[in-house]
Amino acid sequence: MLETLRLDGRVAIVTGGSRGLGRVMALALAEAGADVALAARSKPGLEETAHQVERLGRRASVIPTDVRSVTEMEALVRQTRDLLGRLDILVNNSGVAEVAPLAEMLPAAWGRVLETNLTGVFNGCRAVASHFLSARSGKIVNVASVLGAVGLPGYTAYAASKGGVIALTRTLAVEWARYNVQVNAIAPGWFVTEMNRGAFADEKIRERLLREVPMRRPGRVEEIGPLIVYLASPASDFMTGQTIFLDGGHSAA
Ligand SMILES: NC(=O)c1ccc[n+]([C@@H]2O[C@H](COP(=O)([O-])OP(=O)(O)OC[C@H]3O[C@@H](n4cnc5c(N)ncnc54)[C@H](OP(=O)(O)O)[C@@H]3O)[C@@H](O)[C@H]2O)c1
Repeated sequence: MLETLRLDGRVAIVTGGSRGLGRVMALALAEAGADVALAARSKPGLEETAHQVERLGRRASVIPTDVRSVTEMEALVRQTRDLLGRLDILVNNSGVAEVAPLAEMLPAAWGRVLETNLTGVFNGCRAVASHFLSARSGKIVNVASVLGAVGLPGYTAYAASKGGVIALTRTLAVEWARYNVQVNAIAPGWFVTEMNRGAFADEKIRERLLREVPMRRPGRVEEIGPLIVYLASPASDFMTGQTIFLDGGHSAA
């Protein structure tokens, strides 16, 4: 049974693979046997992840990409297939947060969040479409958020983008089921990364945020590893359209 979790010979793209949850997921996929193409806007973090993938004995390609750009996402898919020989798994993980009450939120900030978190996922899915559909095989894992399902003041743009990711995941899964392409999402709760390190450094804010979490702690980044491997591997071949909440019980409370 554990054999079905192996990814030997597979190739994955991980967007936002330069740090945080994206880096951990790239390393987990590599540990399971996959070669990995790493995408984000800035190169140094991607290169560090690539070194870590190579230390696990796998190949890595660094492909600087802005997920908001249709042409850059198409180039990412093309270059991955050229450099690593194939493509089996797409992890749409890149994301940004802008926190402000809606009445004070600048339209440009709203646009940045939606363009990156939701349109970026659309761009990724669309860029792999012809390859996955003609291969009649593929795995897409989108990274949503618990805030796509529960409300927190200040997060309207972020929540709308992540709620959109959950809905896109469900509908695309139904659309592509007949092509044997599985589309699922992970909705993390709080994990301390660059995205929220400032907030968690403030004891009052940390206490306020964790009050909503039955386990009363943030996730440890390595706790996302087994779930991404499961959703990227043949072990999950009968699962599609699902959003798995990895959140210490936050969405259940
Ligand atoms: N940490 C949490 O508590 C938490 C909870 C729920 C969901 N999430 C989600 O998990 C994902 C990863 O977040 P994280 O916590 O690991 O945050 P992070 O450390 O800030 O990482 C974000 C990643 O996204 C990349 N990125 C941002 N804008 C991009 C763009 N336009 N094009 C390409 N890449 C872009 C960043 O690289 P560049 O800036 O160099 O492009 C970076 O690699 C996000 O989708 C986030 O919304 C996080």
